[in-house]
Amino acid sequence: MSLEVSRVSKSYSTPRGPLSILEDVTLSFAPGDAAAITGPSGSGKSTLLYLLGALEPPTSGTITLDGQDPFTLTPGAAAEFRNRRIGFVFQDHCLLPQCSVLENVLVPTLVTAARERDGDLERARMLIERVGLSSRLEHRPAELSGGEKQRVAIARALIRQPALVLCDEPTGNLDPDTAASVATLLLELQRQQQAILIVVTHSLALAARFPAHYTLRSKQLLKA
Ligand SMILES: Nc1ncnc2c1ncn2[C@@H]1O[C@H](COP(=O)(O)OP(=O)(O)OP(=O)(O)O)[C@@H](O)[C@H]1O
Ligand SMILES: [Mg+2]
Repeated sequence: MSLEVSRVSKSYSTPRGPLSILEDVTLSFAPGDAAAITGPSGSGKSTLLYLLGALEPPTSGTITLDGQDPFTLTPGAAAEFRNRRIGFVFQDHCLLPQCSVLENVLVPTLVTAARERDGDLERARMLIERVGLSSRLEHRPAELSGGEKQRVAIARALIRQPALVLCDEPTGNLDPDTAASVATLLLELQRQQQAILIVVTHSLALAARFPAHYTLRSKQLLKA
């Protein structure tokens, strides 16, 4: 997967008129790249991840994944593309409250044909073990701590071996040791699969573990 961001700007429309968040951001990532993005609260980090993950369209400029602009696809094809190629860890987890830990991790696999699902259960259990939650398989999100929910969301994002992994504050609720082990897992799987890994974080310790570190300020993405 290659990811090309070309002269992208983003503004939200508000009752007081357009609110500009990003201006003229250009960058590109190749398979095997890993980058951290830091920046003040409200600087547009989550917004940038939504754009990279094709969850929000840019106001101007283009974003292509493997040479393809996902916003030119039909909604169904775009959803299929995201599900198959992109793993997203949301800042607020977005777990399904009625499903167990194991079921939540398996959610992205449910849309695939049964014959393609060989090994999914095993991989889900492996990922849950790697995030330290093997003893919580049957818990529902309401029965988990904030950091545990975060770790379930990480396992869910990795279940389909996505080529692009986007994580919004994946270790924000974790103690330093757990955060370090989650970061190790992310970087290890990213290297094994030659995926692109982009992590937004307020933790400089986490950012320092990435080969590339950018910071968002004044609507621009700069090398940190
Ligand atoms: N849908 C929206 N409509 C209007 N404004 C929005 C919308 N979404 C985000 N914003 C504004 O855009 C700015 C950037 O938001 P964003 O969530 O990207 O920041 P962030 O860098 O991720 O911050 P944090 O570190 O607190 O998570 C904020 O000032 C926010 O209020
Ligand atoms: Mg954010």
